[in-house]
Amino acid sequence: MIIIGGGAAGLMAAATAGQRGRRALVIEHKSQLGAKILISGGGRCNFTNLDAMPDRFLSNNKHFCKSALKRYTQHDFIALVEKHNIAYHEKKLGQLFCDGSAHAIVNMLRDECEAAGVTLRTGLAVSDVAKSDHFRVSTSGGDFMAANLILATGSLSIPKMGATGFAHDVAKQFGLPITETRPGLVPLTASASDLPWMSGLTGVSADCVVSCNNGRFRENILFTHRGLSGPAILQISSYWREGASLTVDFLPDADADVFIARKKDRPKADIKTILGEILPQRLADCLLGFGLAAGPIGALQDKTLRQMTERLKHWSITPLGSEGYGKAEVTLGGVDTAALSSKTMAAHAVPGLYIIGEAVDVTGWLGGYNFQWAWSSGWCAGQAIP
Ligand code: FDA
Repeated sequence: MIIIGGGAAGLMAAATAGQRGRRALVIEHKSQLGAKILISGGGRCNFTNLDAMPDRFLSNNKHFCKSALKRYTQHDFIALVEKHNIAYHEKKLGQLFCDGSAHAIVNMLRDECEAAGVTLRTGLAVSDVAKSDHFRVSTSGGDFMAANLILATGSLSIPKMGATGFAHDVAKQFGLPITETRPGLVPLTASASDLPWMSGLTGVSADCVVSCNNGRFRENILFTHRGLSGPAILQISSYWREGASLTVDFLPDADADVFIARKKDRPKADIKTILGEILPQRLADCLLGFGLAAGPIGALQDKTLRQMTERLKHWSITPLGSEGYGKAEVTLGGVDTAALSSKTMAAHAVPGLYIIGEAVDVTGWLGGYNFQWAWSSGWCAGQAIP
């Protein structure tokens, strides 16, 4: 079997198939294996999530990921990490990171592959894939033939790291459908009217609830010189569509009467001071500047305070766009799951062809979910190769 792509999913598939006694060749076009693993999680690789449940994945078919995630779970991957004595910790929200460098994860996968007799070839550019009774993969290092081919070349995010739409192109060549692709887990840019106040807050972050379409996340948002970022925005970006508005709750722990209670306690305090006790002061000052309220809280009517609270809990922002594939952690969409077996990742219509990882229309939340999909889908294909 040939696996094109020596990233997370490809290495997992190769090791799994090799351990079953299958002869596996990995072809990677870059000089290095697992480049995205190395830069992930700020260099410490957020390699899975303790809560890697199917409802944290986006796809045209939300049921597709269930089988693979159940057959090779986050606990299976954690056991592998522990077998290799890699120290790790939970940072927050079930997110598991290496204590040390992400190199440990790439070394672990390489060791697993080598122990299973997998041949790893880096720096080979693939020029063509063809099929008669076998697959022929033409590369800068010659042609390779195999009865089974796994496409594990990831997707379009971060082209400067070598990301390509190769898997989609080959899938199309074999007549498989591709769902619409777009950048996910990506910062959003401000409209011309929002840019002045947002860029004025560059570097300010606040704990908020952000919602859009069916997504809702409580995490920090970060203002930038181009618009919005931070984990809450990266998460919601996968649910956002051009033209849609985000609703930001700047006061996630407050009820409608939060300021009325404070007015009774400290009527002389300025509303800026009061709001600055809940939000970063620069953000509080900026939001109040939208005509919400001014002066001592005792001089403000209860109605005004309730209206202000309502605005701060339902702040509407319509982003201009996203920062695109150059800044996106993942690509939404990909090879249509309708064309694949959810158990084996095999293409129904093309015997011997398997597609795994980010190339498939399955995208996880921020927080280790995307690697878990790579491990789970890669393991399933590695188990299935005849
Ligand atoms: P992946 O991209 O890992 O591997 C594909 C491989 O195929 C690459 O090595 C590529 O060079 C190779 N390739 C491409 N085209 C080829 C061709 N034509 N011929 C040969 N080889 C080719 N996820 C997560 O769960 N936790 C995290 O902490 C992070 N952090 C993170 C940070 C950043 C900056 C990014 C960009 C992404 C993340 N991710 C993440 C997402 C995660 O990296 C991603 O979901 C997985 O790497 C996808 O695994 P794949 O194996 O499908 O693709």
